[in-house]
Parts: sequence; C-alpha cells; structure tokens
Amino acid sequence: MKNSVKINGDVEQISLTQELKDFIKLWKSKPGNLIMVLHQVQEHFGYIPESTAFEVARLLNVPVAKIFGVITFYHFFKLTKPGRNKIAVCLGTACYLKGSGDILNEFSRQLNVEIGETTADGEFTVEAVRCVGCCGLAPVITFNGEVVGRVSSKDVSGILEKYMI
Ligand code: FES
Repeated sequence: MKNSVKINGDVEQISLTQELKDFIKLWKSKPGNLIMVLHQVQEHFGYIPESTAFEVARLLNVPVAKIFGVITFYHFFKLTKPGRNKIAVCLGTACYLKGSGDILNEFSRQLNVEIGETTADGEFTVEAVRCVGCCGLAPVITFNGEVVGRVSSKDVSGILEKYMI
C-alpha cells in the first residue's frame, strides 16, 4: 500500500501504515507508549515524517507539542529523511583521540555536505555519533550500520568508492 503523496510538488504528506496504526492501538494505554511508537515509526520510515507526528498525536490523544518535544529532546529521533547511505563517524573519546575528527571532516569535504546533513542527491548522510562500543578498533565509523575500524582520513576516498559501486 502506497503511503506517500506529494502535495503541490514540494510538501510531502506521509501517512502511517495500517500496521503502525495497529501498533499504536496496541500500545495506546501502556506506560511509555510514546517512545515505543516513535521508535516504530522511525524504524519504518527511517525518520519521523512531520505529518505522521500529527497522526500519532491524534491516535494517542496527546498534544502535538509533546510529540515534537520528545523528538527534539532525543538525538536518536530524526525529522528529516536520511540519505540512502548513512555514514556515522564515532567521536567518542577513544576514537577522537585517534583522529576521528579529521575523518569526519574528510567525509564532509569529499561529499560536500555539512555534518548531520544529507547530500543534495540524497545518497549520503554524514553524522557524528558517540561511542559505538568498538573502542578497541578506534577510530571507528559505521557505514549503513556496518562497523569499519582503524580508519584514517586517507581511507575516506577508498571507503566511498567501495560503497558507491
Ligand atoms: S569511542 Fe569510538 S567506538 Fe568507543
């Protein structure tokens, strides 16, 4: 079932799927339901489309401001659609001390994109993250969730070439 409709060519109106609506129904009266529901919505779309936040508010019967308050409080939740490929550079202490800041800047430079943003063609999102739990491999990046360890800024072009194929 298609759940995305373009309005006026630039505003995208995305609706919750029936599966997500059923999930909300199931969780409606349970404590902590808002976080659970937002996790589920983000897992489905890769982010939380603004229009779905309004639907969640209506279905859970909570103010829209509360929904956006939670989304903006937790860095995990995203309101913008991520790129097809997600590059996350760890800036945790172990990685940072081994030069991950330079790696992050190199991805940003080579892809011509600001940190935390997506390239104009929608192919890559570059972001900084905290410790991903692989400090022994520092400095670490993840590429679409796959951990790549002992990276140097000289490896950046090779990594991009490998994943662009
Ligand atoms: S600090 Fe980078 S993986 Fe732990």
